[in-house]
Amino acid sequence: MNEAKKGIGDRYQEETKYSRDGMKIYSTGVFERTEQYKQYPDTAKVLPLPHVKPAAGADFWDTLMQRRSHRDFSSAALSRDELALLIFATQGLTDEESQNMFRAAPSAGALYPIETYVFANRVETIDPGIYHLNIAEQTLELLRPGDCGRALTIAALGQAMVSTGAATFIWTAIAGRSKWKYHERAYRYIYLDAGHIGQNLYLAATALGLGCCTIGAFFDSQVNDIIGIDGENETAVYLGAVGKKH
Ligand SMILES: Cc1cc2nc3c(=O)[nH]c(=O)nc-3n(C[C@H](O)[C@H](O)[C@H](O)COP(=O)(O)O)c2cc1C
Repeated sequence: MNEAKKGIGDRYQEETKYSRDGMKIYSTGVFERTEQYKQYPDTAKVLPLPHVKPAAGADFWDTLMQRRSHRDFSSAALSRDELALLIFATQGLTDEESQNMFRAAPSAGALYPIETYVFANRVETIDPGIYHLNIAEQTLELLRPGDCGRALTIAALGQAMVSTGAATFIWTAIAGRSKWKYHERAYRYIYLDAGHIGQNLYLAATALGLGCCTIGAFFDSQVNDIIGIDGENETAVYLGAVGKKH
């Protein structure tokens, strides 16, 4: 490709290639290993997630065939069990014996750079608000009580599904968790991790008969502000709206 036509994406791809002639991985320095997961110890409210298992497993191949993006939701609420199952599918601990806290979705190097926040809009027995998933405790920590639907819709370029849905997942990345090992190449893996999580949300929602749509179009700093993160060490990467279908 003509050098002059190369954009930041082309240069990123080029400079983060593993190569047999000397692994010249681009690096801006040595990174400190950061904490494995985030917790909000001063939160006003902590909600335990029920240990739930789907009563009868939906057929995997039917689920794959039926998965579609749904953007129109009814005004019905999700049950707390349904929300717990969706969270389990995206970030549930599937090997509690291991120090790595292996999850339902894979992660490069088992470093788990993605954090999960949920805007619970209409979930039975859960007051509306933005919650953070405490992965170690499998609890939801209340960060911002109240209806954040309007703010989220504006942040999501006017896409109303983030406020008409019963719940919206907000996934952020703490790049430092991966950069100490993979340096700048870490960003490739971070976005792949987010993609796996998003697909698990789609499949779990489909298996439960719910509608789901993941969202990449949003004003980054507005979403970051809504959940109170700095946009530098931690930044929003992906959203997913879920709700009951009409
Ligand atoms: C990374 C990614 C970002 C997406 N962002 C949006 C979005 O911002 N708004 C939207 O309506 N759909 C979004 N979608 C959903 C796609 O439009 C949808 O997957 C595509 O049209 C194919 O349809 P299907 O999911 O029903 O198979 C996104 C999907 C992916 C994988």
